[in-house]
Amino acid sequence: MSIETVGVIGAGQMGNGIAHVLALAGYEVRLNDISQDSLDAAITRITKNMDRQVSRELISAQDRDDAMKRISTTLALPDLGPTDLVIEAATENEAIKKQIFDTLLPHLSPDTILTSNTSSISITRLASGTDRPERFMGFHFMNPVPLMKLVELIRGIATDEPTYQACFSVVEKLGKTAASAEDYPAFIVNRILIPMINEACYALYEGVGSVASIDASMKLGANHPMGPLELGDFIGLDTCLAIMNVLHDGLADTKYRPCPLLVKYVEAGWVGRKAGRGFYDYRGEVPVPTR
Ligand SMILES: NC(=O)c1ccc[n+]([C@@H]2O[C@H](COP(=O)([O-])OP(=O)(O)OC[C@H]3O[C@@H](n4cnc5c(N)ncnc54)[C@H](O)[C@@H]3O)[C@@H](O)[C@H]2O)c1
Repeated sequence: MSIETVGVIGAGQMGNGIAHVLALAGYEVRLNDISQDSLDAAITRITKNMDRQVSRELISAQDRDDAMKRISTTLALPDLGPTDLVIEAATENEAIKKQIFDTLLPHLSPDTILTSNTSSISITRLASGTDRPERFMGFHFMNPVPLMKLVELIRGIATDEPTYQACFSVVEKLGKTAASAEDYPAFIVNRILIPMINEACYALYEGVGSVASIDASMKLGANHPMGPLELGDFIGLDTCLAIMNVLHDGLADTKYRPCPLLVKYVEAGWVGRKAGRGFYDYRGEVPVPTR
């Protein structure tokens, strides 16, 4: 299976990064969204990020220009029908993803490999709603896509070996490293990372340490580049909570219960950087701990 054209569904923070790295690696990319504003914002963001790579001499101006020419945008999902590989990166909502696949399938070439960038939804369940569970798998990029080296490849129960190998080759061509994960809640990275962030919330909730002392402890004591609360704010506390709920529901183990303080921050709308406030307040010159 040779992959040359890739359809990317969803032009949000992940979709634009995925289009960026695919185009730079030489793939023709068709980027789809339901919102023209999202598509326009994605092209602006990709241009800005590639400009930064040019100014740091990571790529040439010619690389950037060639890559930008390989990206086309469309509001019409059927336009992705003839592509060799589709990576769905729309909003993390199972009903939305299911509806996308239902709309796309009648237009999709029989050989197209269908994948989802979902952080937590069961690949096997998503695959079972399509006409090609053997050519369906999880293709999970990390945020921010142009910088992060890992891609988790998740086989559903029915995923066949040629599909896995074709996706593995794409990851290699992107210059990234693939980690193979089984289809269990939150896969590998989030299965380990998000409970650690949740545990940091418990340490704060129980008064073991302040925001500053918890983050300093993990940065200086465990050599983490970011403290767990700072990292939670970066990911989005709503996303962290959603993943804890998936772990709690999917594995039925009380060790995954979401911390009440995390729930409280999400209820307050203090969901991290994107909201201007989370465990830190980002509205001033420097982030200030909120506890
Ligand atoms: N944010 C992260 O750190 C991260 C990391 C890895 C994986 N993911 C996963 O990537 C996916 C996208 O996340 P994101 O952070 O980019 O979200 P986002 O909110 O930034 O972007 C989602 C985009 O999907 C579009 N969309 C919604 N419904 C659509 C439809 N029916 N058809 C086409 N486009 C539609 C929205 O308009 C929006 O532009 C999710 O499945 C998420 O779990 C996110």
